[in-house]
Amino acid sequence: MIYLDHAATTPLRREAREAMLPFLDGRFGNPSGLYDVGRDAQRAVDDARRAVAACLGARPAEVIFTSGGTESINAALLGIAYAMRRAGAGDHVITTSIEHHAGLHTAQALEELGFEVTYLGCDAHGRIDANEFEAALRPETVLASVMLANNEVGTIQPVREIGEAIARYARERKHRVLLHTDAVQAPGWMALDVNELGVDALSISAHKFGGAKGTGVLFLRRGTPFRPLIQGGGQEMQKRAGTENVAGIAAAAAALQVSSSGIGERTARVRALRERLRAGILARLPGSRANGCQENCLPNNLNVSFEGVESDLLVAALDRRGIAASSGSACSNSTWEPSHVLMAMGVPIRQAVGSVRFSLGEGTTAGEIDRVIDVLPGEVARVLKA
Ligand SMILES: Cc1ncc(COP(=O)(O)O)c(C=O)c1O
Repeated sequence: MIYLDHAATTPLRREAREAMLPFLDGRFGNPSGLYDVGRDAQRAVDDARRAVAACLGARPAEVIFTSGGTESINAALLGIAYAMRRAGAGDHVITTSIEHHAGLHTAQALEELGFEVTYLGCDAHGRIDANEFEAALRPETVLASVMLANNEVGTIQPVREIGEAIARYARERKHRVLLHTDAVQAPGWMALDVNELGVDALSISAHKFGGAKGTGVLFLRRGTPFRPLIQGGGQEMQKRAGTENVAGIAAAAAALQVSSSGIGERTARVRALRERLRAGILARLPGSRANGCQENCLPNNLNVSFEGVESDLLVAALDRRGIAASSGSACSNSTWEPSHVLMAMGVPIRQAVGSVRFSLGEGTTAGEIDRVIDVLPGEVARVLKA
């Protein structure tokens, strides 16, 4: 199989597997247990928390383990917005129309709960405008959530500039607005430092960077108003109840440590392969068009529209040839609709429905890219005839 869907999920890293195995076996304790195997599990969670904090430039007490990116995003948006409104700070939230559904649907839930939400649009490259963001700030604004890198087209958003706009607003108006970023697609491709980004909350998901499925991280800056989403015991410093997924947490920390090193070399190598794929496709298929940014984008993402093609059919045809790619976003595939991201970018609907996302990984080879370039024209022709 040639796997080009790393934005959907990644294979488990060897280091992550090794880190998690002992906790699926003899080291089975519940971290809340007041005896040896319990303390052992608690130490493993604490070690993982320190390791993750170091990778993010955060303090250990600011790292909360969750069940995944979706939960982290839900907890950040609902938990912060609710706590801010309860404190009488306001009820306006700013986000973007190109967030992953984990963010978009949570913003819609906030509207149902009586918040007013502003959805910012993007340009033809899928980029949000920081000035437009600044103009949307109001005295009632309590929370902003802007993704760091888009999962469908790879565009990197000006999160740092948005953080600066919020800091200016806070200085001038003496009004606090908290900033969350969905950084799920970023680890391994971008250095993540919560202070450089200027964010109060950040969400990542372990299986996107070589960890196991079912573990996420929520960075929550010290002093951020927050009401826990998940109620129960006092785990995760009273911020996320439920017995910890110790094996998943150990794997997440190991995977993040590996992903956070060698980013420059990994990025350069994979970007060159992505450019080879882009050039090969555009040269061999004159009816194809690359969607999204050319600069300021993740190095591993290529979104291409094939004229007159329905992308699901092409993805199925590629699958039959042993190539895994995604039509639009893998997480939103259950209902067939043109991608909300491509629509927001102003991509014509005919082009949007023919879009396929190829997302490379650090194990992708030049031979695999060349094979995809060779296979594609025949499969596109077959789908067009069908
Ligand atoms: C940008 C982005 N945010 C959030 C998520 C949700 O992550 P998970 O499915 O691991 O909960 C994804 C998954 O594709 C994503 O790409």
